[in-house]
Amino acid sequence: PTAAFKPVQEVLEGEGVVPGRYIKHKDEHTQEDGDVLLPMMDCTIIDLALLSSSSPQELAKLHSALNSWGCVQVVNHGMTSSFLDEVRGVIEQFFALPTNEKQKYFRKEESGSSDAPLEGYANDDVYQQKTLNWNDNMHLLLFPLAKCKFELWPQKPSNFRTILENYTTKSKMLFDSLLRAMARSLKLDENNFFELWGNDEEDTILGRFNFYPRCPASNRVDGLKPHGDGSAITIVLQDNKVEGLQILKDGKWFRVPIIPEAILLFIGDQMEIASNGIFKSPAHKVVVSPYNDRVSLAMFCIPNPEKEIGPLKELINEDRPQLYKRLKDYGKIFFQYYPENDADRLIHTVK
Ligand code: SIN
Ligand code: FE2
Repeated sequence: PTAAFKPVQEVLEGEGVVPGRYIKHKDEHTQEDGDVLLPMMDCTIIDLALLSSSSPQELAKLHSALNSWGCVQVVNHGMTSSFLDEVRGVIEQFFALPTNEKQKYFRKEESGSSDAPLEGYANDDVYQQKTLNWNDNMHLLLFPLAKCKFELWPQKPSNFRTILENYTTKSKMLFDSLLRAMARSLKLDENNFFELWGNDEEDTILGRFNFYPRCPASNRVDGLKPHGDGSAITIVLQDNKVEGLQILKDGKWFRVPIIPEAILLFIGDQMEIASNGIFKSPAHKVVVSPYNDRVSLAMFCIPNPEKEIGPLKELINEDRPQLYKRLKDYGKIFFQYYPENDADRLIHTVK
């Protein structure tokens, strides 16, 4: 770590003043910023048990929500609320450690290569963007086991590894069930989306652990700037008390509700492409609270960057021509860190 590195909760200077490098520029403000409470999104709740038994109503609900919002919350996924609280608990405990302990896991250039993500603990001070996210985070490759660099995983809290390995195993099963159901909701063979993610040894799950400390200038900073996920699909375990996630639909921002027992699913860019635009990869962002810290864990299904990704041929026809080019190396696009203009995200459309 550079001598200058500071966790976000330590950057408040003097009398709790947020440094200018975190304050949003004029063009980063959205109309809704300020004291107005945004409307809550109309979030579809999907029962995984019904999906797995191929309930036509549940499949239709899934199809419709992923086509409009690109996001659902999943319940009845087999993980108990107390287990989910344990996962949230170890994340909170990690970020609550003293800086010198967390710095042991600091992200190093050697922890990644051109085709692998950088793993470890860090924040955006290391990227020198236009303005910074009010967020400390840690990236760890969680799956497959053979690729996990356990030497980069926190030793504290001592149950971090056991809990995360357990959560990853269960999340992998959830990803498989969701990919099958998404294919079935499009009347495809249920294994079709495993071509995109799941049947290649180089397909991975990357975890992003987020910590958004409370901020006295909360409506002048972003916790996480607007972006679309570059993954195939993403699941998010949200904080169970502190809200913050927002989603864009038809040019308007909405709050995403907290459902403590649910796991949230986002469509990523690569699934939008594979589904030929039927499933939407939504722009989303995180706002911070002036009163409470917030944690979350996003798990990204990242397809092998060597694999060509394009719309499934079954989803191209006269009514719906091919909307995206086939191409490799979405990994690079994924690591184009949060493009400023979300509209530039899917730059590889055919049109
Ligand atoms: C994200 O991964 O885009 C944000 C997840 C969150 O903090 O809720
Ligand atoms: Fe995201």
